[in-house]
Amino acid sequence: MRHRGLAAGPGSVVLATSGTSSAVGELATALLRPGDTVAIEDPGYLRAVGALRAAGMNVVGVPVDAGGLRVDRIPPHVRAVYCTPAHQFPLGARMPASRRVDLIEFARKNGIFIIEDDYDGELRYDTAPLPLLISMAPDVVVHLGTTSKILATDLGVGWLVARPEITEAVLAHRVDIGSSPSPAGQHVVSEFARHGDLARHLRRLRRVVPPRRALLVDELTRRGLPVTGDDAGSHVVVELPDAAAERHAVDTARARGVHLDGLARHHLSTPHRFGVALGYTALPDPDLARAVPVAADCLTEAFFDPH
Ligand SMILES: Cc1ncc(COP(=O)(O)O)c(C=O)c1O
Repeated sequence: MRHRGLAAGPGSVVLATSGTSSAVGELATALLRPGDTVAIEDPGYLRAVGALRAAGMNVVGVPVDAGGLRVDRIPPHVRAVYCTPAHQFPLGARMPASRRVDLIEFARKNGIFIIEDDYDGELRYDTAPLPLLISMAPDVVVHLGTTSKILATDLGVGWLVARPEITEAVLAHRVDIGSSPSPAGQHVVSEFARHGDLARHLRRLRRVVPPRRALLVDELTRRGLPVTGDDAGSHVVVELPDAAAERHAVDTARARGVHLDGLARHHLSTPHRFGVALGYTALPDPDLARAVPVAADCLTEAFFDPH
């Protein structure tokens, strides 16, 4: 409630998960049948695609534009839609309110559910987030949160908020397969929260991350590069004209010791958006300060002087 404006209960239940990707797989196995079709943003989060496919789902990609998932392009026969409305991964769009309404209407009309992956929802700086899909439509939305972006990926802790029929189905599935999330990480997170450390940690992140983001964005815009993505989360995007430009940027940066995450590898279908996603939260300040000019040099060359 404090960090995401979501009051869970009494109509919904919070369930611990081992993180988003495994929760996506659990939801598919517990609520859908093998061969059912699930729609997902393309480009999108391929671990969710992997989890859905491992659960026997047929996964279809839906294009993304400046407002996130193109609701008008979702095929009519899907049984569920996975999306990242607060901060589309990887392109960084924030889904506008009108499109959220369209998505919810689509789900209600077709009797399907929406998986709302709110992977970095706590990392908001100046702009207030739009209402969560689950607060707009708890009847058709399953909300997933994770500690991967705010604490550590290795912790393997997340949460699922949904109406009781859904959480009961997931719990029953856990009993059937004799497997449930390890409690160790949950104890760490609940102790961390109970003593106020989590709130302090989030306040600190909201203070220290914006200057890091500004360091990166200023350097890129100063060189005339197009920086896109909402002012939130832990990455920004620079789109490049084509696959060759992306490869050039990634390869030249790697040769100079900087890892750039190309957009091509985030596609389900043939890649059609090119560029890089640049993270600014994981590196310590001195490393970030060294990496930013190198990344900016490589991107400038790839953007303005394509080979
Ligand atoms: C779109 C998206 N969803 C979820 C996650 C976190 O997934 P998990 O909780 O399985 O680590 C990430 C982390 O990188 C992500 O990029």
